[in-house]
Amino acid sequence: MSHTPKHMRLGLFIQAAGHHASGWRYPGAQSGSENFALVRRLTESAEQACLDLVFFGDKLVTGPQEPPSMIVRFEPLTLLGALAMVTERIGLVATASTTYGEPYNIARQFGTLDHISNGRAGWNVVTTGYDSAANFSLGKHPDHERRYAQAEEFVDVVRGLWDSFEDEAYVRDAQSGVYLDSEKMHRLDHQGEFFNIAGPLNLTRAPQGHPVLVQAGSSGPGMALASRIAEVVFTAQQDLPSAQAFYRDLKRQAAGQGRDPAHCVVMPGIMPIIGRTMSEALEHFERLQQWNDLDAALALVSDRLGHDVRGFDLDQPLPELPLPENMKSRAQLLLDMSHKDGLTLRQVCHLAAGARGHRIVVGTAQQVADEMIAWFENEAADGFNLMPAHFPEGLDAFVEGVLPILRQRGLFRERYEGRTLREHLGLPRPQWRRHPVSDIGLGGIPTTGAV
Ligand SMILES: Cc1cc2nc3c(=O)[nH]c(=O)nc-3n(C[C@H](O)[C@H](O)[C@H](O)COP(=O)(O)O)c2cc1C
Repeated sequence: MSHTPKHMRLGLFIQAAGHHASGWRYPGAQSGSENFALVRRLTESAEQACLDLVFFGDKLVTGPQEPPSMIVRFEPLTLLGALAMVTERIGLVATASTTYGEPYNIARQFGTLDHISNGRAGWNVVTTGYDSAANFSLGKHPDHERRYAQAEEFVDVVRGLWDSFEDEAYVRDAQSGVYLDSEKMHRLDHQGEFFNIAGPLNLTRAPQGHPVLVQAGSSGPGMALASRIAEVVFTAQQDLPSAQAFYRDLKRQAAGQGRDPAHCVVMPGIMPIIGRTMSEALEHFERLQQWNDLDAALALVSDRLGHDVRGFDLDQPLPELPLPENMKSRAQLLLDMSHKDGLTLRQVCHLAAGARGHRIVVGTAQQVADEMIAWFENEAADGFNLMPAHFPEGLDAFVEGVLPILRQRGLFRERYEGRTLREHLGLPRPQWRRHPVSDIGLGGIPTTGAV
């Protein structure tokens, strides 16, 4: 059964020093995750191009070993609040952690963003692979299994809080003095293994019902969570067969959860390196790659593998290594490059420094478009998360070169048809429902009184 939607879904993953570790050094590149003017310009360009969404990742620790785009960054919800005011149609998606966040705060933040953006918010649910305990007064970073168990409950609580009010709760009847319909307000009274949350949330139901849920874990528990709750799945795959295997497995699991697989949109990352000719594109890529710092790349690969590989022979494939506690799927991907494709550690480092394990496509606009279409039409992707090597040129080259080809083939929209992120992505608006321990009993809501 094919689940392929009519149009590709396209997101722009913004890391404003570029996704390539050396992207900021490319002639003409502008850079800076703290450069709001640049981030705004990129978001506006993405909206002019009618992309579905912009996405900002997040990490809760930093250090000198981080790539330039990740060493410093704005707090993403605050940033999206600002971007909501200068855009009208594009979806606004950010990461927030279920290990280091609080469900009440996260429900409130994304609910607020959905209100002020008129239905364009999306939450990338992450369990945070990196030990961030030291920044949150926690003794220990919870292990993988526990993080995912907590994430499952966390998301349910957030969804319950988003349903604190039924739709259209405002009455605002000046005559009777009724401001909100108290019958439409519900407590959650959640008591679980990780959280005890009373509710209700102090926010009426969001324009989208619920902000769009995005998820990016690819381990067993990661896919289990995604298949149950995710409406968009970000992923990193290197080749068509592994992308198809992931896509089909996830869609099968989503169907097994009683969901329509089309409502679980799979978007692998792609770094397009575009030239007027193949040799120009290769030159472009080699120029970026020659700046790779091997020591930094070794530190990055060690970090992703959860194993210090700095003493290993650079000109041999990686040895068998146990999968780490964090980022299991990304570690597997790097190990596979060595074990299945025979890449040496030096070659793995080169590729990881390029796109951190995401797929790099080097070629003319036509070749990049053909590669994307092959994945889209063969159950490997419903769309892509674009990760330009550097900005703004990497985005502009895609918009000017690849998008017209996709449009000509009828595979990408000419203009926005919908208003909300759900409408762009072809996702239904969740019906309000009573959550397991939902209870009215709050009495009337006075229009005056102490605050
Ligand atoms: C496109 C993409 C974006 C991601 N963004 C973040 C992020 O912003 N913050 C984060 O902690 N993890 C992020 N991740 C990592 C995933 O959430 C997840 O931790 C990782 O894929 C390992 O999950 P697993 O252990 O289930 O394989 C991202 C992954 C992908 C593919």
